[in-house]
Amino acid sequence: MHQTIETIRKEFSDSLHKAGSAADLEELKVRFLGRKGPIQDLMKELRNVSSEERPLVGKEINILKDEITDQITKKQEDFVAAEEAMRLAAEDIDVTLPGRRNFIGRKHIMTQTLEEFINIFVEMGFTVQYGPFIETDWYNFGALNTPEHHPARSMQDTIYLDPEHLLRTHTSPIQARVMERHKPPIRIIAPGKAFRNEEITARSHVFFHQIEGLYIDKGVTFKDLLGTMNDFLKRLFGSDVKVRYRPSFFPFVEPGMEVDVHCIGCKGRGCNICKYTGWLEISGAGMVHPEVLRNGGIDPEEYSGYAWGMGVERLVMLRHDIPDIRMFVENDMRLLKQFSAV
Ligand code: DAH
Repeated sequence: MHQTIETIRKEFSDSLHKAGSAADLEELKVRFLGRKGPIQDLMKELRNVSSEERPLVGKEINILKDEITDQITKKQEDFVAAEEAMRLAAEDIDVTLPGRRNFIGRKHIMTQTLEEFINIFVEMGFTVQYGPFIETDWYNFGALNTPEHHPARSMQDTIYLDPEHLLRTHTSPIQARVMERHKPPIRIIAPGKAFRNEEITARSHVFFHQIEGLYIDKGVTFKDLLGTMNDFLKRLFGSDVKVRYRPSFFPFVEPGMEVDVHCIGCKGRGCNICKYTGWLEISGAGMVHPEVLRNGGIDPEEYSGYAWGMGVERLVMLRHDIPDIRMFVENDMRLLKQFSAV
């Protein structure tokens, strides 16, 4: 018996040595300590041992059993510890690595400028109104004294969605909407996007921003319009800004004009922003046509008003020396970052 116990001990010791995983250990446990294992066999054989020797041999078997159990448990703990160590090594964090940079969103130069313009007009007493991008033919043209076959419609290449609906070609339809809802005095600006089916070049794009202005009250004159324009442009460009007014035609105003500012970009010498004229056309304007007032439910005998529609992109190009209108929508970080103060 003693010999058999030693053989089993040796056999177990060899097997334990070879065990390379937790699964191997589990298998060892079953093989040596299980019901069909050698320890159980020894227990059964105890019966044939003489009664004097039995306690001694029994004790020896129990010692072996405890040894086997302990060694398996110990090795199992070693495996768990090794595994843990490996996991920690894999998760190792290099605290000296530079952190990942987070970019914080900022307002686009266009938004910044629009807000600046709006603030100036608000300071001057205007309130702000908005209108939809998708307009009806009536608000975009009809209400603004531009009936269906009017030649002025060809001035704007329109993007139609269906025969009745279009992407507004200017912010002027907001004038018509405001007149419908409000009685004079009306003193509003309406900033926003406008859309035209134009060829994309350094100077023109299929969408751009405008700020519409509308002032209607008793006794509003052309002089008020000039005063407002001058005041705005001085606040924006400084008191020495050079402004030029040229007669022009828009169906919704009479008389109508175009407002130019001296091209600061080239100091009047001529560049591609100002089409080599030295001047930059920034706004159409005029006295609101009596027909437009009537369409809005306002009596032209009692009230008069002025309006303007200002292009925003060109003004921003002028102020910040941006040579190409397409740069506003390319979102090149090198441009955007230059206007990241806000
Ligand atoms: N809506 C015109 C355009 O986009 C600009 C304009 C001209 C607006 C004269 C006005 C105005 O309000 O009075 O070309």
